[in-house]
Formats: sequence, C-alpha cells, structure tokens
Amino acid sequence: MHLLTVLLEAILLEASVQAVDISAKKKSGGVAFIGDELNQTPFPEWLTDFTGMTQWPGLVPPYIPLDFIDMDKIPDYNSYSQGVCDANTRDACSFDCDQCLAHDDISTCRKLSQTFDDGPSPATLKLLDYLHHKSTFFTLGINSVNHPDIYHEIQDAGHLIGSHTWSHAYLPSLSNEDIIAQLEWSIWAMNATGNHIPKWFRPPYGGIDNRVRAISRQFGLQAVLWDHDTFDWSLVTNNPFKTEQEIYNDVALWKLVENRGLILEHDGARKTVDVAINILDLLGEDQLSVSECVGGIDYIREF
Ligand SMILES: *[C@@H]1O[C@H](CO)[C@@H](O)[C@H](O)[C@H]1NC(C)=O
Ligand SMILES: [Zn+2]
Repeated sequence: MHLLTVLLEAILLEASVQAVDISAKKKSGGVAFIGDELNQTPFPEWLTDFTGMTQWPGLVPPYIPLDFIDMDKIPDYNSYSQGVCDANTRDACSFDCDQCLAHDDISTCRKLSQTFDDGPSPATLKLLDYLHHKSTFFTLGINSVNHPDIYHEIQDAGHLIGSHTWSHAYLPSLSNEDIIAQLEWSIWAMNATGNHIPKWFRPPYGGIDNRVRAISRQFGLQAVLWDHDTFDWSLVTNNPFKTEQEIYNDVALWKLVENRGLILEHDGARKTVDVAINILDLLGEDQLSVSECVGGIDYIREF
C-alpha cells in the first residue's frame, strides 16, 4: 500500500511538473528551467543574494546552509524508505510507521474539516468555486512557483496555506541536509509567491519522525497530520483502495459517529477535486481551517 502511494503521488506530481520538461526542451536548457509562457513566480532578488541562484530548482533542490539551524539539535535516527519500518526503535516516533504523534503535532479538529494537499494545480480552481468556508491547502513549492496565479486565487479566497515540501519528498529517507532543502525551498516559494512564511506543514505520505521534527521545528513549522483518510488519490489508479461510493459512506459515518477531525484529501487532480466537492456537499460548510481548529496563527510572518 505504501509503495502504491509513492507511485501514485509520483504520477500526480509528474503531471503537474510535466510543463517544466516541455519548456525545458523548448529552451534546450536541460535543467528544470521554466519558460515565461508558464507565468512562473519570478526568482526574487533577495533569494539570488542569499543563494547565488537565478532560477527555481528542479525536483531535487540544492541544500543552502542556514545560520539559524543547529545541526547538533537533530537526533541521530536512521533514514528509511517508505514502508521500511524497522530502521529505528519506537522512540523515533514515526507517524507513518507507528501512527506516533509528538506533543506538538496536530492531527484532529473539533469540527470535521477537509484539508487539501499537492496543489496548486489547474484542478484547484474548480474546488475554489465550491468552497465557501475557510479551508486549508498544503502546497508544493514547485507547484506554487509554476502556478502562481492559482496560488493567489487560494490566497485571495481567504484560505490557509501551509507547506507540503518543495517536491513531495518522503522526508525520513533523506539526509538532514536534504530535508532542510525540501523545507527551505518550499518556504521561499511561498514567500516569493504569496509574501508569507508558513506556520503549518504537512509531511508528504505522513512521513515524519523525531529527526524530521527536530528540523521542521527549527523553521518554526508545526506538523499537521490527519485522523481521517479518504484514500481519494487511489481512485486515479487501476486498483483503487476504495470505490467512490465507499469513500462517501466513510465520510457519512465519520460525520454521524464523531463529527470531528481532519480529513486528508487532494487537489492535485480533477478526479480528487470532484470527490472533494461531493464530500463538501455531505459535510456542509461548518468546517474549520487548521489554524482555527487549534486557535493558532495562520503564518509566522506576512510581508
Ligand atoms: C521573504 O520575502 C521578503 C521580501 O518580500 C524578504 O525580504 C525576506 O527576506 C524573505 N524571507 C524569507 C525567510 O524568505
Ligand atoms: Zn501529498
């Protein structure tokens, strides 16, 4: 199941970065340079001053050292691939392996509320037409700089935006430096596109343990997991975990039995957005954003 998740999410990501390859070919650059026909977020001067770079990176962002990160504060747990859950003892507190939550992880809400990962994508726009309460989007940095107009639509509609890393990496598999790179570039993408620094962070695949947490906390990020999974993304595969009807039955039951919690959904594809609109129809607009769930701030800083 975990491997399937990786594959499917890789496909979804592939779909949204495909335009990058096309324009890279047109420009015959070979690197992940995106032409202005995509209306990319301009690479800001402050980021050139800091990184020496002039273009947004590709799927593997470079590690840029930051003076506020103390490497000595990062515990020495082993890295591991998704689904390989015997690499560390239980005190590593892995969410995806052991459903372990740290004291500062958010995983529930006092009202049953939808959350949306993997955008911004062209499908996001349809979802925005239907959402009339404040909701939460965990965006990929690479998608944000490639779809700044859609990012601004989410922002202008008053929704909360959090980080979902730069390019959807399974963070526990990475070195400390590469985890930092995934987080710093996602933050820079959000700041360059939306003029804000995120407070909330959802690790792709729920991949978080105490090593990842020790890094994300140093950015001031707080991890947001979930307690209700729709498996909506699996509808896009040949062998879905659930039928669409089973997903709606699950949602109806969650509403009936508890009527509280955070629901994991995706706005990276047309199909999952259509499902999200039907779920919204089942739940109604009496939902909260993650910051409202916990009485917290939306962003660490807004410019
Ligand atoms: C955010 O952007 C502002 C410019 O709007 C810049 O001065 C600041 O250094 C940036 N901060 C981060 C952390 O990206
Ligand atoms: Zn995701």
